[in-house]
Amino acid sequence: MDHPVLGVIFDLDGVIVSTDNCHYLAWKKMADEEGIPFDRTINERLRGVSRMESLAIILEKAEKTYTDAEKDALAARKNGYYVELIGSLTPEDMLLGAMDTLRTLREKGIKIAIGSSSRNTPIILRQIGLDTYFDAVADGNAISRSKPDPEVFLLAADLLGLAPENCLVVEDADAGVEAALAGGMRVLGVGGAAKNPKAIFAAESLAQLDITTVL
Ligand code: BG6
Ligand code: MG
Repeated sequence: MDHPVLGVIFDLDGVIVSTDNCHYLAWKKMADEEGIPFDRTINERLRGVSRMESLAIILEKAEKTYTDAEKDALAARKNGYYVELIGSLTPEDMLLGAMDTLRTLREKGIKIAIGSSSRNTPIILRQIGLDTYFDAVADGNAISRSKPDPEVFLLAADLLGLAPENCLVVEDADAGVEAALAGGMRVLGVGGAAKNPKAIFAAESLAQLDITTVL
């Protein structure tokens, strides 16, 4: 291949660790308190989407209009519930195949990074014991435009010192697949993005794939 893969950039939620249910339960508690209808189908639309954009999707079903200050308070309340829930995450909550994949890449000398929209990335990495494991971490705290904008992946590549065309992104969200392609990177779709026809490679989970076959 013209451009060898020298670095792999992993989305965090839904690729390395399963936080979907924590996000769902936290949004659900806030929505129930506000009397806003919210279910797991709507929750699917929040995958890979930033906190405030997720709130905007939830508020589509709200009867009242919220001011910007009220929206900030709702997002902060949800985040409080979420932070409490992710406080019980352990390395056991890593998704199948994730740790083996990371080890394989390390052995091959391939750089590894996180590219996540989540501003809770540092907490989650600490909970699963990987806070010093990655060569670079780009997250929601360091960017101003969330996926499908490529900013977070371009930052991760930059922190790795690699050109986008030498990076492979692993994503479970359609917004993340778009972001990787927009950044000029190859993308492996897993989980929810395994069926995305735009993903160049696909696997149900990292446990179903030998990562060296897509490098
Ligand atoms: C993404 C999740 O990784 O992070 C989204 O897939 C979430 O569901 C987004 O909304 C932002 O997360 P946080 O932790 O900053 O609220
Ligand atoms: Mg994700």
